[in-house]
Amino acid sequence: MSLVDDARKVRHNAYAPYSRFKVGVAIRSTSGNVFVGVNVENAAYPEGTCAEAGAIAAMIAAGDTRIAEIAVIADCPRPVPPCGGCRQKLSEFGARDVKVTLATTDGIVEQTSIGALLPGGFDAADMEKA
Ligand code: THU
Repeated sequence: MSLVDDARKVRHNAYAPYSRFKVGVAIRSTSGNVFVGVNVENAAYPEGTCAEAGAIAAMIAAGDTRIAEIAVIADCPRPVPPCGGCRQKLSEFGARDVKVTLATTDGIVEQTSIGALLPGGFDAADMEKA
């Protein structure tokens, strides 16, 4: 099964009663393990978490630390662009050339990379003089 298939399958478990916009994510770590995540919303809206954050949390909890590849899927007119916060989160755990597949439930697929999603992103090296 491809990462997009894993993301498509888990998307159904998303908890999105407020936006009704369900998102599924699958990450393959550099150890070869696959972790999935969905968005989990909350009646106090800012407390919701994105699907990417859920998948990253599962990877870290399992003891893996690096993303090798990631797929994101939603029922969207165009392949769902990860939000700014998620771009920053992905850049913490994956190299710039890591493949990101953005997909729609209708079958539109776009390939990009973590670096392309966050040009000029802030990272740990920027704190070296602190
Ligand atoms: N959302 C994600 O989970 N990932 C994305 O890449 C884009 C947006 C969620 C957050 C919120 O639950 C819903 O989609 C609408 O913004």
